[in-house]
This record gives sequence, C-alpha cells and structure tokens, in this order.
Amino acid sequence: MDLEQAIYGRRATRAYTHEAIDPAVLEAVIDAAIQAPSAMDGQPWGFCILRNPALLDRIADEAKALMLRNPSPGLALHRFEEMLENPDFHIFYHAPALILICSTKDSPWSQIDCILAAQNLMLAAYGKGLGTCWIGFAQSWLETDEGRAALGLPATWRPVAPIIVGRPSGGEPAPPRQKPELLWRD
Ligand SMILES: Cc1cc2nc3c(=O)[nH]c(=O)nc-3n(C[C@H](O)[C@H](O)[C@H](O)COP(=O)(O)O)c2cc1C
Repeated sequence: MDLEQAIYGRRATRAYTHEAIDPAVLEAVIDAAIQAPSAMDGQPWGFCILRNPALLDRIADEAKALMLRNPSPGLALHRFEEMLENPDFHIFYHAPALILICSTKDSPWSQIDCILAAQNLMLAAYGKGLGTCWIGFAQSWLETDEGRAALGLPATWRPVAPIIVGRPSGGEPAPPRQKPELLWRD
C-alpha cells in the first residue's frame, strides 16, 4: 500500500469480525513495529500478544471496573461513565487479538520509542487489511499487580501501548482534523 494512503486511511477500528488472525501476520506487524527509530538505538520494546477470548473478556471487565472505581487523573469520567457502566460495552470491541507494547528498559526515552513502534504497527496492520485501535481504557488495569500477573509480564516490562488488532467488520468515519497551529519562523 502507498504510504500516503496508509497514513490517511488508517482509522481507530471499533467493530471486528470474529476471524482469528494468523500468528504469522501478527509477527509481521510486530516486525514492522520494530523498524521504528529508537533513542540511541535502544530498541526498548517487548510485545505481549493476547488471543484468548476469556482472558480478553476478563481484562475488559476488570479495566472498566477499575476506571469507574478509580478514574485516572485527567480522564473526564463524566464523558465515559455511561458507556463504562453499560455491561454490553466491551473496551476491546471483541477484537480477536491484543498486542501490548511494553517498554523493557528503564530509560527516559523508552516510552516514546514504544509509541513510535505502536504507530508503525497500526499502519502496517492497516496495510494488511486489518484494523487496530489503541485502548487507553485498558492502561491502568494492565499496570496493576493483578494485571501484570494475569499477563505474566517480566518485572522490567512496563505497559505502554495496548493495541487491539482484527479484521474490521465495517468502515469507520474519519474524525476531521483541526487546523494545526503553525508558527513559521522564516
Ligand atoms: C493514547 C490513545 C488512547 C486511546 N484510547 C482509546 C480507547 O480507550 N478506546 C477507543 O475506542 N479509542 C481509543 N483511542 C483511539 C482514538 O479515540 C482515535 O485515535 C481518535 O478518535 C482519532 O481517530 P482515528 O484514529 O480514526 O484517526 C486512543 C488513541 C490513543 C492515541
């Protein structure tokens, strides 16, 4: 796929078919992720891949409950409260896979490096006809001791980017971009 087409066409996908995604395809998008630049070539990323529907359902339920109990600072809970209280709202939209990108090194740049890898992963998945969505709603729970234990994360790994991946079951409208502020300093 043309790069411009990928950049402009990728959308946060919130409806998926039940089709399982071949592990080789997930490994291919991870390979694209690790082509991202990283500070001092640190490559401080690890990828935890979840495909077990029961585990994904459990994480979705626990993450919702935690957010309602203890909303992260800065999250305008009132905007999401009704959605999170709805038992039918699944934070992973029943996607067949979640790739959690974790920073593996304690460096000031490792989160940024993982975020660059995340964008590569989302674009590469789109190029393969897959949908993705970064699920910030899962973040707080994944960082808890319970969340880390459920995933069996190594002690040095820190969750950065929980990204669902699957075959889209419908199109997503493109949220219009606001005009960027440009400060030309010629
Ligand atoms: C850090 C981050 C967290 C996000 N968390 C969620 C989330 O929890 N649930 C969700 O449906 N979308 C989430 N999104 C997707 C954004 O809502 C989406 O990217 C934005 O509305 C722009 O749409 P687009 O990606 O289709 O351009 C998140 C995106 C980012 C970058």
